[in-house]
Amino acid sequence: MIRLLTFLLLLAPSFQFTDTIIPTPTPWPERFHALLYMNVSSSVLQITNLWYDWPRGLNVNIMQKQLGVLLYDIEWNNGTSFYFTLGENGSCGIMDFGVGIPRPDFLDGANYLGTEITDGFLCNVWEKVDFIWYYEDVQTKRPVRWDFYDGISTHVMTFEVGAVLDDSIIQAPSYCFTQDTDTNSKFLGSSLPKKF
Ligand SMILES: *[C@@H]1O[C@H](CO)[C@@H](O)[C@H](O)[C@H]1NC(C)=O
Ligand SMILES: *[C@@H]1O[C@H](CO)[C@@H](O)[C@H](O)[C@H]1NC(C)=O
Ligand SMILES: *[C@@H]1O[C@H](CO)[C@@H](O)[C@H](O)[C@H]1NC(C)=O
Repeated sequence: MIRLLTFLLLLAPSFQFTDTIIPTPTPWPERFHALLYMNVSSSVLQITNLWYDWPRGLNVNIMQKQLGVLLYDIEWNNGTSFYFTLGENGSCGIMDFGVGIPRPDFLDGANYLGTEITDGFLCNVWEKVDFIWYYEDVQTKRPVRWDFYDGISTHVMTFEVGAVLDDSIIQAPSYCFTQDTDTNSKFLGSSLPKKF
């Protein structure tokens, strides 16, 4: 009898969901390169080259603010991030976030909000923990846009599955290892959440 009850309880939810299929976000590919257009605030625009490499435990943001200095952000899955600029006045900051890079399935458990046209694409939209709003193309399943709670809006201009960043870019410059690891807020501005 108990077994039968368990059996019925296990079956019940699957019956319920057969008539209403709620879309779930497509997990991120294990490796990709995306060119991102970010509207950081009404007066700050940024282009970011995002290189996501889950097998290597690596997430790289190469960030260009309008008429600013090119900023590299190399995030490792052990929680360490290197922020640096190159050139004559190159500088570096190292931060330990205590959390790794987002997993490919970091959107698991997000709440489905329905469809919406954004940037001209019909998208499924999800929200997770009042932190991220995520727009995925209904047809191609590619990400189109994501917004953070703080108003930063990211728009996906290109999305190359399988692309891998050259090793030479990943290596932090020597001055990262010779100075104090002071943190500097100007170095923040990653395109991805640290939260998941
Ligand atoms: C950026 O976002 C702000 C606030 O939402 C908006 O006023 C502004 O027009 C946007 N700028 C661009 C270039 O998208
Ligand atoms: C995390 O990994 C990177 C790359 O291997 C390394 O440079 C860094 O020192 C590591 N951080 C810690 C806290 O072990
Ligand atoms: C580096 O800093 C010096 C001193 O502030 C400045 O004169 C020089 O123009 C800077 N160089 C670059 C490439 O920004």
